[in-house]
Amino acid sequence: MGNSTTGKDLFRSVAKLFKTHLLSNYLFHFVFFIIGFSIGIIITFYFKSFSFTSQAFLNSYQYSLLKPLKPDQQYSNSSSNYSNNSLISLNDEDLLRRASMINSRIEELVGVPKVAFMFLTKGPLPLAPLWEKFFQGHQGLYSIYVHADPSFNDTVPETSVFYGRRIPSQPVYWGTGTMIDAERRLLANALLDTSNQRFILLSESCIPLFNFKTVYDHLINSKISFLGSFDDPRKLGRGRYNPKMWPQINITDWRKGSQWFEVHRELANLIVSDQKFYPIFQEYCHPPCYMDEHYFPTLVNMLSPESNSNRSITWVDWSRGGSHPRKFGWVDINDEFLNQIRFGSDQCLYNGNKTSMCFLFARKFLPNTLEPLLRIAPLLLGFDP
Ligand SMILES: *[C@@H]1O[C@H](CO)[C@@H](O)[C@H](O)[C@H]1NC(C)=O
Ligand SMILES: *[C@@H]1O[C@H](CO)[C@@H](O)[C@H](O)[C@H]1NC(C)=O
Ligand SMILES: *[C@@H]1O[C@H](CO)[C@@H](O)[C@H](O)[C@H]1NC(C)=O
Ligand SMILES: *[C@@H]1O[C@H](CO)[C@@H](O)[C@H](O)[C@H]1NC(C)=O
Ligand SMILES: *[C@@H]1O[C@H](CO)[C@@H](O)[C@H](O)[C@H]1NC(C)=O
Ligand SMILES: *[C@@H]1O[C@H](CO)[C@@H](O)[C@H](O)[C@H]1NC(C)=O
Ligand SMILES: *[C@@H]1O[C@H](CO)[C@@H](O)[C@H](O)[C@H]1NC(C)=O
Repeated sequence: MGNSTTGKDLFRSVAKLFKTHLLSNYLFHFVFFIIGFSIGIIITFYFKSFSFTSQAFLNSYQYSLLKPLKPDQQYSNSSSNYSNNSLISLNDEDLLRRASMINSRIEELVGVPKVAFMFLTKGPLPLAPLWEKFFQGHQGLYSIYVHADPSFNDTVPETSVFYGRRIPSQPVYWGTGTMIDAERRLLANALLDTSNQRFILLSESCIPLFNFKTVYDHLINSKISFLGSFDDPRKLGRGRYNPKMWPQINITDWRKGSQWFEVHRELANLIVSDQKFYPIFQEYCHPPCYMDEHYFPTLVNMLSPESNSNRSITWVDWSRGGSHPRKFGWVDINDEFLNQIRFGSDQCLYNGNKTSMCFLFARKFLPNTLEPLLRIAPLLLGFDP
C-alpha cells in the first residue's frame, strides 16, 4: 500500500513535475509569443507612424506652398466660406508656378465642383446687383475673383458676393500683353482652389442670359471648353502673324478669337503653365497684332485642339463692323431682344448634340441697362432660387 502510495506519490510528483514543466513550457511559449507579438506591434506602429509622419509632412509642405507668403490685408480679410488658398499676394512668376503645380499634385476634386467667375474690370461693377441676384442661394457652387485696376478703391458692402474677392492686380492697357497677364493672374488664383472646375472670364459689361442652375449645369457637364478660335486668312488674322515666330509657331498654327473665354481645369492649367509661347508673343505680337485676340486661341490650337469647341459662350454683336462691338443701353432691353440671344442663334453643338443655346453670357451692356434688366430678369431668366 505504502509502496503503492509512494508509487502513486512518485507518479503524482512526476506528473506534477511534468505538468509544471508543461506549464513552464506553455509559459515559455506564451512569453515568447507575447514578446514576438509586441515586437510585431511595435514595428507595425513604427512604420505606420513613419508613413503618417511623412504624409503629415507632405500635407504641411503642400499647405505651406499654398499659404500666402505675405497676405495682403485688404484681400485676406474675407469673412466668407471661400478657401484660404485664393486671393494670395505673390508676384506673377510665383503665382503662376504655384498654380501650375497644384494640378499635378492634387488630382482628385475637393468637394462639390465649382465654377470660377473671373471679372476683369477697370473699376466698379455697375451691373453687380444683377449678378448678386444671379448668385443668390447658390453658395458653395461658385467662386468669384475680381481683377480691377490697382488704383480703384472698393466700396463693396460686406453682404455682397463680391466682398473680399479682389485679387492683387496690375494696370491693364487695352490691346497689350498686360491684358493677358491679368487673365493669367485670375486663372492662377482660381486654380489654387481645387474645387474650381470651370473658369469663365467676364467684364463689367457682361450679363448672364440664364439662371445660375442652368449656367452651372451647362458648364460643369460640358466635355470641352468654350474658347473662340478660328483661322482668319485675312490681313486681320494671318496678316498679324510675324514670321519671326517660326519655327516655334507656324502660320498654320495661327488662330484668332474673342478674349472672353470659358475653359475647363486642364486648359486653365495649360494656360498658366505656358512658358514657351508666351515670351514669343510678348516679343513679336504688338499692334496691329493684339495678344488678347491671338495668344490663347493659338496656344490652345497648338497644345490641345481637341479639348476646345472653338466658339465663345459669351455673345457679342459685331454686326456693325469696326474695331469695337455694339453697346446696348436701356432702350434695347426687352424680352424679345434677350430671347433672340438666348435661343435665336444657329444651332450649336453641345457634347455632340445640337442645341439652340449657344450663349450663356452677353456683352456689352451699359450701366443704364441695370434697371430694366433687374425688372425683367426674375421672370425671363428665372433668377429666384
Ligand atoms: C475683418 O473683418 C471683420 C468683420 O468681418 C472685422 O471685425 C475685423 O476687424 C477685420 N479685420 C481686419 C484685420 O481688418
Ligand atoms: C458658409 O455657407 C453655408 C451655406 O452654404 C452657411 O450656412 C454658413 O453660414 C457659411 N459660413 C460662413 C462663415 O459664411
Ligand atoms: C483661413 O485660415 C485661418 C487661419 O489660418 C482660419 O482661422 C480660418 O478659419 C480659415 N478660413 C477658412 C474659410 O477656411
Ligand atoms: C484710395 O483710398 C486711399 C486711402 O483711403 C487714398 O489715399 C487714395 O487716394 C484713393 N485712391 C483713389 C484712386 O481714389
Ligand atoms: C507649316 O506647317 C505646314 C503643315 O504642317 C508645313 O507644310 C509647312 O512647311 C510649315 N511651314 C514652315 C515655314 O515650316
Ligand atoms: C476646334 O479646332 C481644332 C483645330 O484647331 C479641331 O481639332 C477641333 O476638333 C475643333 N473642335 C470642334 C468641336 O470642332
Ligand atoms: C444627345 O441626344 C441624345 C438623343 O436625343 C440623348 O440621348 C443624349 O442624352 C443627348 N446627350 C446630351 C449630352 O445631351
